[in-house]
Order: sequence, then structure tokens, then C-alpha cells
Amino acid sequence: MAERSEEISRRQFLAKVSIGLSALAGAVVGIPIIAYLLSPLINPAVNKWRSLGPAALFVVGETIQATFQDPSPLPWAGLTAETAVWVRRNSIKLNDFTVFAVNCTHLGCPVNWLPDARIFLCPCHGGVYYADGTVAAGPPPRRLFEYQTRVVDGDLQILSRPLPVG
Ligand code: FES
Repeated sequence: MAERSEEISRRQFLAKVSIGLSALAGAVVGIPIIAYLLSPLINPAVNKWRSLGPAALFVVGETIQATFQDPSPLPWAGLTAETAVWVRRNSIKLNDFTVFAVNCTHLGCPVNWLPDARIFLCPCHGGVYYADGTVAAGPPPRRLFEYQTRVVDGDLQILSRPLPVG
């Protein structure tokens, strides 16, 4: 009889271990997903206007690279906290800019602007985008991400946000 009660308690123990490991696996998978979804609330700095510099420095019709501080830099990030974008001034109007994320929408490699061909080219898997950011060829599943822009006191700014690349 004592042997049977020991067996039951072993079974109960294994059931509790199984439930505990399932809960741990659920936490390992679920916590990062929940943190990502809540990140705009947890870290209000993520969706924040960032300066790209004086708007007057951007020449009409040119597409040039500019940098801004990563929305959520780690204290030890240093220069790696700088994030790049492609900026095009469309006209002489005060706020007529198009700003593309530098990251390819396939797996996030930085795309290059080829001014003569007027295309963005991804060096990783050959993704090609037209000048307006739409996909011309290759594996990218969607057009380049664009940032919302504004000009405040002559300063060109973009609304930074996490990009769902990959
Ligand atoms: S990362 Fe750009 S095509 Fe794959």
C-alpha cells in the first residue's frame, strides 16, 4: 500500500514538473512577443520625432542618406545606435519630402540608392525597388517603409517607429 501511495505521489510530482516546464516554455515564447506589442507604451521614446538636420540642406530631386538616433538605443550602443534613412526632397515646398527606411523589407539588409538607374538595390538577395519605393524585382514582399515627415523651425524630422522587417 505504501508503495502505491509513493507511486501516486511520483505521478503527481511529474505532473507538476510537466506543468511547470510548460509554463516556463510559454513564458519564454510569450514574454518577448508581449513586450514587442507593448513597446510603444513601455518605451514612449520609440514613436518620437527625430531630427535629420536642416531641411534647406536637402537638394530638390536628390536622394541622399541621412542618420538619426535609434529609437531605443542601448547604453553601450555607441555609433551603432545611428540608424540610416534615404531622404528625397520632392520640391521646393516647405514639407515635401519622402523618407524611406534603409532596410530591405525582405530580411532587413541596408539598400543602396543607384542614382543613374534610379533604383534601390539590396546587396543581400538582389531585391530591387523603384524610386517610389515599390518592388521592381526579387524577394521583397512589400515596398520600402516610409516615415512620416514634418519641418519644424527649418528642421526636417521623421516620426521614428519600429519596423516589422523580416
Ligand atoms: S534582404 Fe534584401 S533581398 Fe533579401
